[in-house]
Amino acid sequence: MEQPDHPFALFSGSSCEEFAKRVAKDLGVDLGRSLRETFPDGEIGVQIQENIRGKDVFVFQTLAKNPNGYLMELLIMVDACKRASARTITAVIPYFAYARQDRKDKPRVAITARLVADLLERAGVTRVLTMDLHTEQIQGFFDIPLDHLCARSLFVKTFQKLSMKNAIVVSPDLGSNRMARKFAQELDVDLAIVDKRRMSAQNVRLNAIIGDVKGKEVVLFDDICSTGATLSLAANACRDLGAKSIFAVVTHGLFTTASEKNLKDCGIDRFYTTDTVFQNNEIIKPIVISVAPLFAKAINCVVRAESMSSLF
Ligand code: R5P
Repeated sequence: MEQPDHPFALFSGSSCEEFAKRVAKDLGVDLGRSLRETFPDGEIGVQIQENIRGKDVFVFQTLAKNPNGYLMELLIMVDACKRASARTITAVIPYFAYARQDRKDKPRVAITARLVADLLERAGVTRVLTMDLHTEQIQGFFDIPLDHLCARSLFVKTFQKLSMKNAIVVSPDLGSNRMARKFAQELDVDLAIVDKRRMSAQNVRLNAIIGDVKGKEVVLFDDICSTGATLSLAANACRDLGAKSIFAVVTHGLFTTASEKNLKDCGIDRFYTTDTVFQNNEIIKPIVISVAPLFAKAINCVVRAESMSSLF
């Protein structure tokens, strides 16, 4: 591979070392060495164990499973890179947590998506590389460049190979409509919409389904599955309305403990997700499509200052 103008280095936080290694392998480099310690009082300490002066540095951290700890670790790694005179610091965040609190929809609540953006910038991040943000407008919370990758094309390829005869994409949440509509268009099938109302962090209620799922192969398409309440509600409703089979596709499979109960008997035949979140769930057993090659291509474009638009 031809050398880029500036040397670059990849480092991983503790949330996604396997993923970062896959990306590094695709780029033909090794992961940089760093030491992470937890002090007796619970504080985290990080040391970058090689020279990064003048380099373009990429720090990987996916903010799933333990978002608070991993976010803090990421900020500390970025601070360490800044103080070690990195030329640029890209935070590579396959799953960007806290994104669902992106507006003030009730009195006296925080906008955490903006808060996280501010923390990253203040720590010294000069670019963010992420995938399928909960809403695209979160990009505007940053005053630095943000490259926003999308897993949809990989899911499209997967479903095209299944040659389904009578499929329909169902958006299980009004907020997912835009991405579900694009998915349906690219598969050249119809779209139905679930009008869901969230009562609390764990409880959702069905208002209505707009569209006809009777006798069809339903593909539920969402950005996140956390407790599984949204997917199981939509799946049950589709079954009741006569769906023939049901598949669920989510970019970020958080699959919290509650999801195992919610999704166990909800009638979803198969789950598809990516490796933005490490997957080892023995109950849900999703089919995992790796997005590591896409991240590797994106990093290649960044270090060579090449256009990334063909990746979107
Ligand atoms: C909501 O806005 C998202 O698109 C997902 O529908 C939601 O985060 C899924 O959460 P859960 O699995 O807990 O219902």
